Amino acid sequence: MLPGFTVEVLPEVDSTNSELLRRFKRARGASGVHPEPEPLLLVAERQSAGRGRLGRQWQSARGASLTFSLGLTLKPVDWSGLSLAVGVSVSESLDPPRKAQHRIGLKWPNDLWLTSAHGERKLAGILVETASWDGLRYAVIGVGVNIEPVALAPAAETAPAMSAVAPGCLRELDGGIDAPQALLRIVPALVAAVRAFEQSGFAPFQARFTARDALAGRPVQLSDGTQGTAHGVAGNGALRLLTPEGMRELSSAEVSVRPVPPC
Ligand code: BTN
Repeated sequence: MLPGFTVEVLPEVDSTNSELLRRFKRARGASGVHPEPEPLLLVAERQSAGRGRLGRQWQSARGASLTFSLGLTLKPVDWSGLSLAVGVSVSESLDPPRKAQHRIGLKWPNDLWLTSAHGERKLAGILVETASWDGLRYAVIGVGVNIEPVALAPAAETAPAMSAVAPGCLRELDGGIDAPQALLRIVPALVAAVRAFEQSGFAPFQARFTARDALAGRPVQLSDGTQGTAHGVAGNGALRLLTPEGMRELSSAEVSVRPVPPC
C-alpha cells in the first residue's frame, strides 16, 4: 500500500501520536549511531488516551473510528500550513473534488466538517506534532476519522462545533465504508501531499483549502473572545480575520475559532 513505509497495526495504544514520539525520543536517546528513522504508519484499533489540539481529548471507539499517525522526517523550508495541507488531502480523498458542492468542508485550521441533513458536524481531526534531534525534525501526523455513529461522553473533542447533536461520521457520506477502506483511501494521497508540502510548502494547497473553507465570510469567535469575520487563509496558512481593529492573521498554534451561531 505504501512503498517506503513500515505499516504497523496495534489493537490498542494510548495515542498513536504519543507512541511515535516516544519511539523517536527513545531511539535518539540510545547511545551509538542514530540512522534516520524509517517512515512509519501506525494504526490503532483503539486509543485509550487519544489527544486533540490544544490539549483536548480525542475519543474514539473500536471499529467505529479510524485512528492513525504517520511518522517521518521532513525538511520543508517553511513548516507553516502543514496541518492545513493534511486536511486538504484527507478531505479530497474522502470527498473527491468532482462535485459542484463539497460535502466535506475544512474548518480552520484542520477540522473536517461533514454537511448533512443534521447540519455541519465534525467528522475528523488532525494533530501534527514534531520532535527534533541533531538537526533532524521528525513529524508525527495524526488523523482521527469518525466512521460509524457512536455515543461519546459529552466532553469529547469530537463534539460538534455548531450543534448539540452527535459528531458526523463517514457512513453518512458512504454507507458501506469501514475503517480499513477509509485508511486505504486516505493514506497514499496523504503521503504524496506531505512530500509535495516538503518541496513546495503550503502554496499548492491554498486554493484547494479555499474551495472547502467552511468559515469563509462567516462571523467567528476566537477562544480569547475576539469576534470578527473569517476572510480565508494567507499564503502561510494563517487565518485572515477582519476585526473591528482591522485585518489580523492568526497562526493555528494561538487559538481555537468557532463560528458564531445565527441568532
Ligand atoms: C483535533 O481534532 O483536535 C485533532 C484530533 C486528532 C486525533 C488523532 S487520532 C490519531 C492521532 N492520535 C492521537 O492521539 N490524536 C490523533
